[in-house]
Amino acid sequence: MAPNGRLIFLLFYLIFAIDGAPIGHKEKRFPSAIIIGVKKAGTRALLEFLRLNQKIHAPGPEVHFFDKNYEKGLEWYRNQMPETTWNEVTIEKSPAYFVSKSAPERIRQMNPKMKLIVVVRDPVTRAISDYTQASLKKKRLGMMPSFERMAVGDCSGWLKTNCTAKTRGVNANWGAIRLGIYHRHMRHWLNHFPLDQIHFVDGERLIRDPASEVASTERFLGLEPMVHDADFAVDPIKGFPCVRRNDQTLHCLGKSKGRKHPNVDRKVLEKLERFYQPENEIFFRLINKHFSW
Ligand code: A3P
Repeated sequence: MAPNGRLIFLLFYLIFAIDGAPIGHKEKRFPSAIIIGVKKAGTRALLEFLRLNQKIHAPGPEVHFFDKNYEKGLEWYRNQMPETTWNEVTIEKSPAYFVSKSAPERIRQMNPKMKLIVVVRDPVTRAISDYTQASLKKKRLGMMPSFERMAVGDCSGWLKTNCTAKTRGVNANWGAIRLGIYHRHMRHWLNHFPLDQIHFVDGERLIRDPASEVASTERFLGLEPMVHDADFAVDPIKGFPCVRRNDQTLHCLGKSKGRKHPNVDRKVLEKLERFYQPENEIFFRLINKHFSW
């Protein structure tokens, strides 16, 4: 091609993307990545921090398409998304997908190349966080029994499951405990997606060192990391990282995140740790990655 011809071709390419739309054209696109869980492991913090990267866009509320709103159809789903250009990343987060039996297959049907992100944290802390949220919601119906009673004691009257049929001394069928047996849920996903399409975020490290967890997620999304240590400062009251704005003020997550947890009896914590230990090992082997818990 003559030099002039090459220049014209380049100009043409810069003005129009492959599908014929101008390169800066914004439209609602399906997500190419989904934060599928785990509830109470730091999913909101991860999404908020990822959005510091100007190429990452997400709908505000959780969409719940693949679990609750599937019958509304794909166009409804696309409509929930923000407008993006072709070289930006659309992402959504609905942590309830992690435990949904139908979500893995439905997502694969829509896009077998979908990137999946799973935030995990110590299942004992996660269970206490789950309990804290549930007990605040149930306050109107009367005080919920203590975490200890729900986890290892006589929880009849509160749980539909049989509280006398314990597993290693633990009410393993209580949702807050069951959800933390990560390998059981993960297996469904691995039946539909290869492991290298799933990125695991360490929920504890997301609190201690948010920039590094966010940067590795940006790389997984195929983006140059734009989020750095200087973007964060610790909230002096709650002790969780917040976003440091340009004017140095802090933007922290809402009051439903970073709640104060009840003090849990040491013996109960140890029982739960013993309960989860073999389950965690199965999970680590399954995903070929180890965490400190
Ligand atoms: P608690 O409120 O029980 O401490 P999710 O967004 O998945 O529901 O997770 C909520 C949890 O994220 C919070 O549970 C908190 O421990 C954790 N978290 C992680 N980073 C946080 C941050 N920067 N601000 C507030 N909470 C954060």
